Amino acid sequence: TVIPVILSGGSGSRLWPVSRKSFPKQFWALLSEHTLLQETALRGTACGLGAPIVVCNQEHRFIIAEQLREVGITGARIVLEPVGRNSAPAIAAVALIVAETDPDAVLWIMAADAAISKPDAMGPLLSEGVAAAREGQIVTFGMTPTRPDTGYGYIRQGDPLPGVEGVYQVSSFIEKPDAGKAAEMLAQGGYLWNSGMFLFRADTIVAELERYAPDVLVAVRAAVRDRTRDMDFIRLDPKEFENAPDISIDYAVAEHTRHAAVIPADLGWSDVGSWDALWELSPKDSDGNVAIGDVFLANSTNCYVRSDGIVAAVSGVDDLVIVVTQDAVLVSHRDHAQDVKKVVARLEAAG
Ligand code: GDD
Ligand code: MG
Repeated sequence: TVIPVILSGGSGSRLWPVSRKSFPKQFWALLSEHTLLQETALRGTACGLGAPIVVCNQEHRFIIAEQLREVGITGARIVLEPVGRNSAPAIAAVALIVAETDPDAVLWIMAADAAISKPDAMGPLLSEGVAAAREGQIVTFGMTPTRPDTGYGYIRQGDPLPGVEGVYQVSSFIEKPDAGKAAEMLAQGGYLWNSGMFLFRADTIVAELERYAPDVLVAVRAAVRDRTRDMDFIRLDPKEFENAPDISIDYAVAEHTRHAAVIPADLGWSDVGSWDALWELSPKDSDGNVAIGDVFLANSTNCYVRSDGIVAAVSGVDDLVIVVTQDAVLVSHRDHAQDVKKVVARLEAAG
């Protein structure tokens, strides 16, 4: 069996004021009529798989149950964290729960907040990846890098993996390099960006965590052991889970494992991280504008303007992001859309 696992832990602060802690970006329809969470869940269904396991903060449990129901997905298991401890503990919890009954099940880890514009390409790649995962590989999906971005993992593609078509060994994995190292890898070539999707057997990842991040397993094992069940929700023991170190699977395992494999994948993948990324991904009018909701634009070019319920009139400006909600307005140059995160941090600090 292959089980889709959706990680839904991020807060998406660069997409403020639409994305909020209580209702982060993965729960919004930003690129289609479906929310990013729904798009992610439907990717599993499109590949013929059963209901996913979703790992999320306990406060989001009803939003997730409702959004899955809306797209006709029933029987999902929803694993609840009391606090976010990053992706390694989240994945460890799912792997330990699945391994109790089905240790050689293959987990397909997906981020709830990525966009894939060529979903039809996924099916064949999934079959190749599952074949490698069954052999005990930690399978990653590699995208062609386009700029020296320091927010991604970089994968150096090695020799073909014997016996599995389309899959390569990983000769090194570097998570979030500094700017110099990123530029060097881009110039050198032979590196791919890690998409954040993984395939591995539940028992493989538990063994690798045991080897490289045993403290994660100690805490999460206890949280899983003392879990409670509440309808479709699996509540990890809060006290035990809070003891888990805050670390991503990339730092905990991917950088160290000797069983990593990569599938170069042209999926039209992108990280829906910021308003300028959304401008890039959205269809534009002949002036390069994206206008969503009650928006009137004149003599303006290359803007992203979105308004929920309030009329927004915009005239004579270029390259701006303008986002209006019931209680907040964002105005930013597109080139500074990454800095929204810093502004939000200051807002939070100011109470
Ligand atoms: N349930 C849960 N709990 N999910 C979490 C938590 C948590 O505490 N922390 C993060 N996640 C989820 C996020 O919601 C997202 O779906 C996924 O795990 C990845 O986390 P990010 O915080 O977005 O990671 P990143 O973007 O810095 O880096 C990862 O993704 C890049 C591609 O977007 C790495 O895998 C990089 O190597 C990769 O290039
Ligand atoms: Mg991310």
